[in-house]
Amino acid sequence: DESDKTPQDKKLTQINGVLYPGILCTEETFKALESFEAREDDLMLVSYPKCGTTWSLNLLNDMVQTIYNKDPPNMIQILEFGAPDKYEKLNEEPAPRVLGTHLHYDNIPQSFFNKKVKLLVVFRNPKDTAVSFFHFYNKNPMLPNYSSWDTFFEDFIGGKVCWGSYFDHALAWNQHIDDDDVLIMTFEEMKEDLEAAVKKISEFYGFSMSDEQVHNVAEKGTFTAMKEKLNNIKNEFAQIFLRKGEVGDWKNHFSEAQSQEIDAKFEACLAGTKLGDMLKY
Ligand code: A3P
Repeated sequence: DESDKTPQDKKLTQINGVLYPGILCTEETFKALESFEAREDDLMLVSYPKCGTTWSLNLLNDMVQTIYNKDPPNMIQILEFGAPDKYEKLNEEPAPRVLGTHLHYDNIPQSFFNKKVKLLVVFRNPKDTAVSFFHFYNKNPMLPNYSSWDTFFEDFIGGKVCWGSYFDHALAWNQHIDDDDVLIMTFEEMKEDLEAAVKKISEFYGFSMSDEQVHNVAEKGTFTAMKEKLNNIKNEFAQIFLRKGEVGDWKNHFSEAQSQEIDAKFEACLAGTKLGDMLKY
């Protein structure tokens, strides 16, 4: 019921029962996306929000620039954002295209699977993801504000946040963790050894990069290097995608009860699964 909505809630829209930022996502675009033509050589990044989208897309763009001499775009390309005519423009973009999406597995356009496009999927432990999302809601003018962490926590656990439940996304990807064209990486793994992560991603895509090239891409992909670049070009909006960039910030936000509640949910969904083991925190 529209009349129940606060002005804040009006920033969000529901498409097929899932919340999205209304200014970026529309039913028309989602409809047009269903018939999107993927290409075999697309580099496609899939992530739940705040799991390392900006970071991974940066790495992919830098790899493409290194190997193909193709200039990275000014803006990262999230497939489901914008007007429906964007797909005509994307059809004309020279290969290889670097694309990203936050869509749930079930909503990824079929063409990506038909063409066996390699999908890089990035996950992050749910606690840090929730904390990052909370701050992002409050900093991003396109999203409502949450005055309290406790309220956000309830909505995150209940899946009442943009792109739906973290756990639904994780459950779906756990089913596809061994698929041929899927590489699941974690934020924590990238944080631990970025050079190794770059190497793994480049091998997944079949790129032959020298050690020096891998090293250079990793150097450009550190939190500090990315932050400095954004400072230099004075892109204030993009700055909100770089906050702390650390593992374990959840300890500064979660109460003991909240920690237990999300652990229980995590166990119920992911205990004993491969993805569950990757996201132990
Ligand atoms: P924090 O809010 O915990 O700092 P996304 O791009 O999916 O929206 O994710 C944003 C999160 O990734 C933010 O987490 C941001 O700081 C972090 N991030 C972005 N680039 C990073 C980098 N190069 N190294 C570490 N973390 C990075």
